[in-house]
Amino acid sequence: MSVADLSTPLKFAYWVPNVSGGLVVSTIEQRTSWDFDYNRKLARIAEDAGFEYALSQTRYAASYGADKQHEATSFSLALLAATEKLKVIAAVHPGMWHPGVLAKFIITADHISNGRAAVNVVSGWLKDEFVNFGLDWLEHDERYVRTEEFIRVLRGLWTEQGYSQSGKYYDINNFTLSPAPVDVPGRPHPEVFFGGNSTAAQATAGRVADWYFSNGKDLEGFKENIAGVQASAAVAGRRPRYGLNGFVIARDSEKEARDTLREIVEKAHRPAVEGFRDAVQEAGASTKDGKGMWADSSFEDLVQYNDGFRTQLIGTPEQIAERIVEYKKIGVNLFLTCYLHFQEEVAAFGADVLPIVRELEADAARRADVDFDPDETLAGTLPSKAGV
Ligand SMILES: Cc1cc2nc3c(=O)[nH]c(=O)nc-3n(C[C@H](O)[C@H](O)[C@H](O)COP(=O)(O)O)c2cc1C
Repeated sequence: MSVADLSTPLKFAYWVPNVSGGLVVSTIEQRTSWDFDYNRKLARIAEDAGFEYALSQTRYAASYGADKQHEATSFSLALLAATEKLKVIAAVHPGMWHPGVLAKFIITADHISNGRAAVNVVSGWLKDEFVNFGLDWLEHDERYVRTEEFIRVLRGLWTEQGYSQSGKYYDINNFTLSPAPVDVPGRPHPEVFFGGNSTAAQATAGRVADWYFSNGKDLEGFKENIAGVQASAAVAGRRPRYGLNGFVIARDSEKEARDTLREIVEKAHRPAVEGFRDAVQEAGASTKDGKGMWADSSFEDLVQYNDGFRTQLIGTPEQIAERIVEYKKIGVNLFLTCYLHFQEEVAAFGADVLPIVRELEADAARRADVDFDPDETLAGTLPSKAGV
């Protein structure tokens, strides 16, 4: 069954650079800073440029050279307070947070921002963070058992009074959080994004996520990656939406863009990339079927640590816009983007690439005889209800 939605506009997000070193592990010049002043300005540029979401990263310890990190939920809240329209998605680890405490935190963030708070539930790969904090490091698929319970608790506490849930990891007894999240028409509760690519991740996301994030993929790879989510969602009678990561190199000529990619990879910080490759063996590669995030990533892929070059958003604005709409036709609803020089390139993406995307989207809808509403939001189409 096709999951493509040609009737609503694609959505765009950017990775918040809240860890040091930018989004590529390379010594190439990156005019990107992880500090708050830079990020506040970036968030304002992004919302003016047509970006609807920003995604922060959760990291407690250095890895791949990202030796300084700002905490994700507090940083996201500050960005919400500094913006008017942008929805900020805070990455959170089950296993680090109690879901009740997080549910409450997000409700407060939601009120401060008038309904713009969201979470990205990530099940974790950096074993040292857990072990050195003295926390349990669960076996790979067991992490997703906990994640599923965690998301059900969030949703239950956000939508019900006197909520109870008893499971392997959490016992919630007749709890009411007051106030409830902001009542945004068509949004049952703050949106739940989900990052993870393994078989267990896909099955879990299909059952409980509003949005499934895929690492960078080519067209075939994206289809394969979401097939497991779709299968599981169909059994549960749900319809999650799909986000795809991509590293954008938009330049005046294709040659210039390709040269930039070559320079990024040539100047890769080899020991850091190799250290990262060792650490991520705890992800997809550690499962029974050996599938999942980074399981088949090459050295070049890992230089953008979420496989962002694979999506090939590299070339002129026209080429990039065309590629983006090809992905829309196979089911992408949202592009999660990253750049070398965030402030300049986010603004340029909004000015040069987005208008072409909008034209191509309208055209694709016309050809498929589908009504395209450029102002349509996803409100009302999210799959979640408590317990569903
Ligand atoms: C878009 C996206 C964002 C992620 N953000 C984080 C993060 O901020 N911190 C983190 O530790 N892991 C993050 N992850 C990684 C997940 O926690 C998970 O370990 C990874 O997806 C491997 O999952 P798998 O073994 O099920 O394939 C992210 C994953 C994706 C796809």
